[in-house]
Amino acid sequence: TNSVQASRHKIVVTRDLGPDIMPLLLKREQQDLDVIVWDKDANCDRQWLLQNAPGASALIVLLTDKVDAELLDAAGPQLRVVSTMSIGYEHIDLKEVAKRKLKVGYTPDVLTDAVADTSIMLALMAGRNARETMTIVNEGRWPNYSWSPFLFCGRQLSASLSSPTRTAGFIGFGRIAQATLARLIPFGFTHCLYTSSPRSKPTPERDTQLASSLRLQSVSRVDLDRLAAESDVVFVLAPGGEETKNLVNEEFLRKMKKTAVLVNTSRGTLVDSDALAKALREGWIWGAGLDVVAGEPKIAADHPLVKEPKCVIVPHIGSATYETRVEMARLAVNNALAAIFDERMPAALDL
Ligand code: DGY
Repeated sequence: TNSVQASRHKIVVTRDLGPDIMPLLLKREQQDLDVIVWDKDANCDRQWLLQNAPGASALIVLLTDKVDAELLDAAGPQLRVVSTMSIGYEHIDLKEVAKRKLKVGYTPDVLTDAVADTSIMLALMAGRNARETMTIVNEGRWPNYSWSPFLFCGRQLSASLSSPTRTAGFIGFGRIAQATLARLIPFGFTHCLYTSSPRSKPTPERDTQLASSLRLQSVSRVDLDRLAAESDVVFVLAPGGEETKNLVNEEFLRKMKKTAVLVNTSRGTLVDSDALAKALREGWIWGAGLDVVAGEPKIAADHPLVKEPKCVIVPHIGSATYETRVEMARLAVNNALAAIFDERMPAALDL
């Protein structure tokens, strides 16, 4: 009947979200949803998306899908929500979204632990020369080395007799940064420095409270110069986009301690890759652990950073656990459904 027709909604999904989550959408096809899925195991084709978006009430996208005026216009005025299966949203043109009064769903919280885990993993791997030493084993060269007192020595993450105080620096101090900080407590960390955008409304009271609950000697918001100079590990955990581009540049890296490690588990654009390669080659800092690199995944296999023995690089796996990705997909679907059916979205971006 007409009333049934009128209450049907079309959802376009740019990737199959797997057997745990797709039924949440597909079971409603009998009822009130038309579900259009890009079902190839490859990035959703732009032309396909432009051709299928018209008439959609919701677009469920990934961070590889560009959401711009062209796509939003193609979708049409009935579009209500863009729901991304990611915490990052620099692939979405927020101005264009706001102009059209659309809602945006994203996936905070559910990936906090997975990314904090990866951040610690990279801090350890970079400090302890994981790349260089694993390469020796993988290439069958271990027999060329016999154990010796200072062979393969790296830098210790934990506090030690010679380094009884440990300072973590965070560029960006949101949920993932704070979860990473909490994981550093058993390593004997004593101080936390951070930079953050004023929009995150940091207060000294919050910092005092955080310090006392984690039993840190201090938690302080500082400028980038001081953060670079005093941190034993710098974690880059701010959003991507123009505002944060190359915050870690040659100037920053030159100010860091020679024994310090840089970890990036946010977006590659925050770190100047050429400057970092130079810093590692010339020993301005000890090592780097990167989950993300500017220009990924196309970064040429022969970029100096990829060749640099002091640089551990993993291919954007920060949130890549089955446990977390299923919850991200679930949240992306629930955000879209809530927006379509006028319910409270579990995780709407504040525009
Ligand atoms: C995100 O969600 O934005 C991450 O980069 C992938 O989990």
